[in-house]
Amino acid sequence: MLLSGRVAVVTGAGQGIGKAIALKLASWGADIAAVDVNLDAATETAREVKAMDRRAAAMKVDVVSVKETEEMAEKIFKEFEGLHILVNNAGITRDGLILRMKEEDWDAVLNVNLKGTFNCTKACLKYMSKVRWGRIVNISSVVGVLGNAGQANYAASKAGVIGFTKSIAREFAGRNITCNAVAPGYIETPMTASLPEKVKEEIISKIPLGRLGGPNDVAEAVLYLTSNAGGYITGQVLEVNGGMSM
Ligand SMILES: NC(=O)c1ccc[n+]([C@@H]2O[C@H](COP(=O)([O-])OP(=O)(O)OC[C@H]3O[C@@H](n4cnc5c(N)ncnc54)[C@H](O)[C@@H]3O)[C@@H](O)[C@H]2O)c1
Repeated sequence: MLLSGRVAVVTGAGQGIGKAIALKLASWGADIAAVDVNLDAATETAREVKAMDRRAAAMKVDVVSVKETEEMAEKIFKEFEGLHILVNNAGITRDGLILRMKEEDWDAVLNVNLKGTFNCTKACLKYMSKVRWGRIVNISSVVGVLGNAGQANYAASKAGVIGFTKSIAREFAGRNITCNAVAPGYIETPMTASLPEKVKEEIISKIPLGRLGGPNDVAEAVLYLTSNAGGYITGQVLEVNGGMSM
């Protein structure tokens, strides 16, 4: 098993892409800490992981809170006797054209998507450093690479995640800890479920592979980067978008 003996923390693991990542890593041998603000959803993910005969814990954590993320990392390290993989997946959108965008919409998106990634990374690096092995995967977005009208806050947060990823990769390469970003294109999850059919068709017309992605497409990329197979890859952005950008 590619990930036997590894302990993985997945944020936003209650649904969508985060849940698919948690189940994928578990199916390849990892124990899972399923972290989410929605405890019921995280608990269901943990239940499905346990059904695969892996260890799992569901944790209610708001990634915006320094205190909660520090306590999260400490608790996982103690309970699981290790902390090897972190997937910073929790994310939100608050879309709007810039002239109408409210300060709270800017702050909320930057806080969850960028500060949340900083908080969890800092908290978990402490424990990865102890064992001189670690894999961090940050979920960015095609929108962070290309920009998107109506998503200035989201695009800024996801572009910020890419710069953050490269900096951590440089700082921690000497300790055998890799840090990469996965930038999904349009993936069918609750986050994109509300897009009108016409908008979906327009998006699909710009995707060379001719379809929206599924959560599993993203999970496969994360699996690769967190396994030993991805051990010589750091500071990269793996775009999982059906060829939308190339
Ligand atoms: N769906 C897409 O098309 C797409 C495309 C590119 C990137 N992404 C990114 O992938 C990630 C997952 O997206 P998704 O579509 O599965 O979203 P989703 O809305 O379906 O799931 C997000 C999960 O994160 C949790 N969450 C939100 N705020 C949190 C917080 N403060 N602390 C802890 N957990 C929190 C939610 O409760 C939810 O379970 C996000 O970072 C998103 O920006 C999604």
